[in-house]
Amino acid sequence: MKRTGEAARERLAVALDLPDRAQLVAMARRVAPEAGLLKLGLEAFVAEGPSLVREIAGTGTGVFLDLKLHDIPNTVGRAAAAAVRTGAAILNCHAAGGSEMMKAFGDGGRAAAAQAGLPAPKLVAVTILTSLDADAVHAVGLTGSPGEAALRLAVLAQGAGLDGVVCSPDEIAAIRRECGKDFFLVVPGVRPRGTAKGDQKRVATPGDAIRAGADILVVGRPITGAHDPAAAARAIVAEMTSALANVP
Ligand code: C5P
Repeated sequence: MKRTGEAARERLAVALDLPDRAQLVAMARRVAPEAGLLKLGLEAFVAEGPSLVREIAGTGTGVFLDLKLHDIPNTVGRAAAAAVRTGAAILNCHAAGGSEMMKAFGDGGRAAAAQAGLPAPKLVAVTILTSLDADAVHAVGLTGSPGEAALRLAVLAQGAGLDGVVCSPDEIAAIRRECGKDFFLVVPGVRPRGTAKGDQKRVATPGDAIRAGADILVVGRPITGAHDPAAAARAIVAEMTSALANVP
């Protein structure tokens, strides 16, 4: 069995939202020893492409490629296959693209990994963006609260055969209850006590998110904006480690 410190480290994903490739790669090198995953978003991928994913993966730390795909099933399935070939360990699409699109995403991603002899990536769906509040959710025609909509989309993602979802800290407990212990929950909106919330509205501490049942915590600015990013990541892993010691 892995030591809990190591287990916690593997569950931290550092979001590398930095404006240029040199800064991003330098930050990746600083924090790679402290985290299980490094997250690359749409901005970096559109600007720099698959070669950046490969360079970041070259640090030895897994890459979470956060492209949030959303298109017709055929296009998403083929995009998933291409994304898997970059060697990313976690990939996502939007659950709002529907069940058929999520099935195509899962099938395309899994087939590409098998063909390339790569380990099976975690294929997950984004439920409701944490930037949407109740009014914005209603304005796009979804019924119920953001939490209810997120739960409905998580159940749809599970039915479509995906490994898990991206959800806010507020939604972890209900999704975990409904979708079971093996459903993979990736959770942004994590803030250590005393750090700035930025634009995140619904936040939880690393300890609370782990206790609620998160598998992966996505943390960006509290680490990348810190005076010593590696130390900030270590402090978060320490908090996750104590929380894990109390999770059955
Ligand atoms: O800096 P911060 O910790 O807020 O970064 C969180 C990361 O997670 C960002 O890269 C953001 O794009 C991403 N994210 C999010 N909410 C979602 C999905 C992804 O904050 N629902």
